[in-house]
Amino acid sequence: MKIAIPKERRAGEARVAVSPDTVKKYVQMGFDVVVETGAGAGASIADSIYQDAGASIAPDAASAFDAHVVLKIQRPTDDEIALLKEGTVLIAGLAALTNKDMVEKLAARKVTAFAMELVPRITRAQSMDILSSQANLAGYKAVLDGVHEFTRGVPMMMTAAGTIAPARFLVLGAGVAGLQAIATAKRLGGVVYASDVRPAVKEQVESLGGKFVEVDADATKNAETAGGYAKEMDEDYKRKQAAKLAEVLAKTDIAICTALIPGRPAPVLITEEMVQSMRPGSVIVDLAVEAGGNCPLSEFDKIVVKHGVTLVGHGNVPSRLAVDASALFAKNLLNFITPLVDKETKALNFNWDDEILKGSCVTRDGQIVHPALAG
Ligand code: NAI
Repeated sequence: MKIAIPKERRAGEARVAVSPDTVKKYVQMGFDVVVETGAGAGASIADSIYQDAGASIAPDAASAFDAHVVLKIQRPTDDEIALLKEGTVLIAGLAALTNKDMVEKLAARKVTAFAMELVPRITRAQSMDILSSQANLAGYKAVLDGVHEFTRGVPMMMTAAGTIAPARFLVLGAGVAGLQAIATAKRLGGVVYASDVRPAVKEQVESLGGKFVEVDADATKNAETAGGYAKEMDEDYKRKQAAKLAEVLAKTDIAICTALIPGRPAPVLITEEMVQSMRPGSVIVDLAVEAGGNCPLSEFDKIVVKHGVTLVGHGNVPSRLAVDASALFAKNLLNFITPLVDKETKALNFNWDDEILKGSCVTRDGQIVHPALAG
């Protein structure tokens, strides 16, 4: 059985879907592992390192896509879809729910495609969760990116020449990325405030040493879906939240925005008026920029200065930590595939009643099979 890992071709993507460690594991499981030449370059993994781990090197994309199983970080381009063979199993971060055209093309090519972002967030699947592994790194990097643009220090420094006050952070959205941002900002010596609509978050923020900005404790009782995600809040809550955030933002040096609502545009939490009220030299890092942004002034893949405030809008932040992000993504993929391999026959064996497969499979036998996409 051939498992192949092509080089990622989308702009700004430095990650790779296999690590030397996972190559070894696939070889032990009985796969022939093929890595396209240069696939690991963005994550500092030379072809020779993959070869030492037991992989062979494919000279081009055409040979890398000619496999039983293809592993990728990003959804395939049209050119890549054209290279996929009928019956190939594609496992990747497909962003399937927002790319229905691509899903239709995968079905037409009779590819069995699994979208790793749709793996249900159940305990058994935690080790396969690319959203968590990548968001955690993004939350960390967002703080460093914010500090990089900030022209003051973060910790309190008492020197003979005077005392420097600690920087004040506000983290909006305290899910996986936000909690890591709080922890990182605390480690740097910042004073950290955080806000979220889900009530369970208050305790988590406080356990990391952050101060929770409470908006309306009663209104947040129904803010969480059964799956643990946020819902869109009503107008009354939004007004109260805006008033509270305006108060805190006027004293904030670095705001880290991570608030997302699955399947919806990101909520607007920092308005232009609030940006104007911030002190000159303050920084906003908008991790939600790809979903429209928590601040309408942030721009995708750009660092811009507006009203004296620097807005950082890097896209694909996990790729900015390509070595760690690749290692964790590769491990998530390995953990997804391992239970599918029959120990006797070494072939893939799908139990289509399994909720992990049902939740993540988007195309099979020429059909779109995911309930959120079919019909
Ligand atoms: P996410 O990336 O969808 O959203 C980020 C954060 O933004 C969330 O905490 C959300 O509540 C918050 N948010 C949304 N709208 C907001 C608004 N208007 N104002 C302020 N904050 C707002 O969420 P993420 O990071 O993926 O985590 C969601 C949940 O899933 C968490 O409860 C997390 O603990 C849970 N989870 C469960 C896992 C499992 O395997 N059981 C694995 C990973 C996460």
